[in-house]
Amino acid sequence: MTLVLDFTLNGRPCRIDAPSHFTVLDLVRDTLALTGTKDGCGEGVCGACTVLLDGRPIRACLVLAARLPGRSLVTIEGIEGDRLDPLQDAFAELGAVQCGFCTPGMILSARALLAENPTPSAREVREALAGNLCRCTGYVKIVEAVLAVAHGGRA
Ligand code: FES
Ligand code: FES
Repeated sequence: MTLVLDFTLNGRPCRIDAPSHFTVLDLVRDTLALTGTKDGCGEGVCGACTVLLDGRPIRACLVLAARLPGRSLVTIEGIEGDRLDPLQDAFAELGAVQCGFCTPGMILSARALLAENPTPSAREVREALAGNLCRCTGYVKIVEAVLAVAHGGRA
């Protein structure tokens, strides 16, 4: 069965057909070609597929696209304006990116944290990013980058 989905994608109205079994991850990567969202484990473990649904981080591989109508979806492509988001700048400048596979999900989880809590502690940053796995960095630089934005006036 095919569904017609009406929702907001990265701040703009989006109307698109999708098979009823599609997840948000299928829709974003395969139909919309927004490949900044990564397909890691496909079963809700790694956080690489994190996107924001109504401002909250979700695992796109676990949520059916059928839940999108009337809601606001933001992918990593949606947080940049004319220039990179301050979190993206900080990740790049402070060495929080190695292979980069986890980075879009990390950035979106961090963006949701800072929207709710603009000046988090290191512990709060670690807790907010606990569902986003990174095989490369050891997390220290990632936490430092989020704190630099939160406490260094970059946001
Ligand atoms: S791909 Fe969704 S949590 Fe790993
Ligand atoms: S930078 Fe490689 S998985 Fe995080």
